[in-house]
Amino acid sequence: MIFTVAIDGPAAAGKGTIGRAVAERFGFAHLDTGLLYRAVGARALAGDDPAAAAADLTADDLARPDLRTAAVAEAASRAAALPAVRAALLDFQRRFARREGGAVLDGRDIGTVICPDAQVKLYVTASAEIRAARRHAELAATGIALAQVLDDVRARDARDAGRSDAPMRPADDALLLDTTDLSIDEAVARALAAVGQAMG
Ligand code: DC
Repeated sequence: MIFTVAIDGPAAAGKGTIGRAVAERFGFAHLDTGLLYRAVGARALAGDDPAAAAADLTADDLARPDLRTAAVAEAASRAAALPAVRAALLDFQRRFARREGGAVLDGRDIGTVICPDAQVKLYVTASAEIRAARRHAELAATGIALAQVLDDVRARDARDAGRSDAPMRPADDALLLDTTDLSIDEAVARALAAVGQAMG
């Protein structure tokens, strides 16, 4: 069975949690595509050419413990604006989406560019303030200030939505899930219901 669930939206809106829950419930494989761009960003910070890094990403690149830092997120967002980087990561994502047994991909352009034919498309969003507060809690150990996280979230949203190649935006046929005032359990329940309905 080929069945693809596309989940897009800005940072810290809940895409990852929802993606993991959908994958677990339906037995689908899950790909956090942001991790690919983070691995490229980390290599760029280390001095590599981003497009060359995207073309030869290794398992070691994807297993680096520093991929969740604010500096790598910023470098990922910059690298993600380069068409050569996006082109180099396209085939891997499309093949993953079409794997036997079903797949969930979360990112920014899954429903619009990577898998325009996905059976289910979700666009998960929330206010910048709520997302910054969630990300701040995750980054607490690093001592970063909330105001700094909010600035970073806004800058990354603007860059990801403003680039000309595959900008972050909801597909026309995406179901919108605003998690500003939704508990994560409620958001997950709505996503599971949408996928269950599409599966028939
Ligand atoms: O989801 P994330 O925060 O880990 O993503 C890091 C950056 O990667 C994000 O700011 C933009 C980029 N990205 C992208 O352009 N397209 C995707 N499908 C996933 C992430």
